[in-house]
Amino acid sequence: MNKTLNEAHVLTTEIMSLVAEEVKGPVKVILCTPFPMLFPVKQLLGTSVRIAVGAQNCSEHESGAYTGEVSAAMIASLGVPYVILGHSERRQYFGESGALLAKKVDIALKNNLKPIFCCGEPLNVRESNEHESLVKQQVEEALFHLTAEQLQQVVIAYEPVWAIGTGKTASAQQAQDMHAVIRQHLAGKYGQAVADTISILYGGSVNAGNAKELFACPDVDGGLVGGASLKAREFTEIIKAMA
Ligand code: PGA
Repeated sequence: MNKTLNEAHVLTTEIMSLVAEEVKGPVKVILCTPFPMLFPVKQLLGTSVRIAVGAQNCSEHESGAYTGEVSAAMIASLGVPYVILGHSERRQYFGESGALLAKKVDIALKNNLKPIFCCGEPLNVRESNEHESLVKQQVEEALFHLTAEQLQQVVIAYEPVWAIGTGKTASAQQAQDMHAVIRQHLAGKYGQAVADTISILYGGSVNAGNAKELFACPDVDGGLVGGASLKAREFTEIIKAMA
């Protein structure tokens, strides 16, 4: 919940020009904005194939009397192709459960939105060494009812809760280990060939200084960037670390 319309305009414009000038490799950038900014940011980006737009949430309901909610169909109707689902802040502050997220994933897919599905453990769970089983459970609850074809529309973001907005990043080894666990878990259900096609992003205090090492891990396919994405220069450096 950052940036007003004018601020979003400035940030998007800066990111667009820095990406156009400096990012050479084939890296995909998705700006996931608050609902009111989706359409203006999309319009500003125009036909840019380099930068796409995504929402940060959607309702689990199709449509109707749910005042204040925003449906997957509404988001899709703007020409926005992505939606983040199950961010740890949604789980923590809005009580979103695995069962609810399974519904949101379904409704997103039904409307041809690609879910960026977030999972990750809080600090106490890592300290009691139950992080792998919790993350596997989160993935199962929200995704394992999907067909392989549907799963291939999903991007997974592993975000250890203790690393989000705290300045504490998981080490590259911690990220790689969990990403490998997630991919192996997907392979167990859908087969290795399908699991290998799924993008698994790391999120949690990614910055210009640590991005290269994180992105170099074999199972880390990109980043979900929060605070550092609010500064065009730093965000561009992170994008370049992936390119
Ligand atoms: P951060 O946020 O990069 O500021 O830690 C990540 C997120 O909000 O998912």
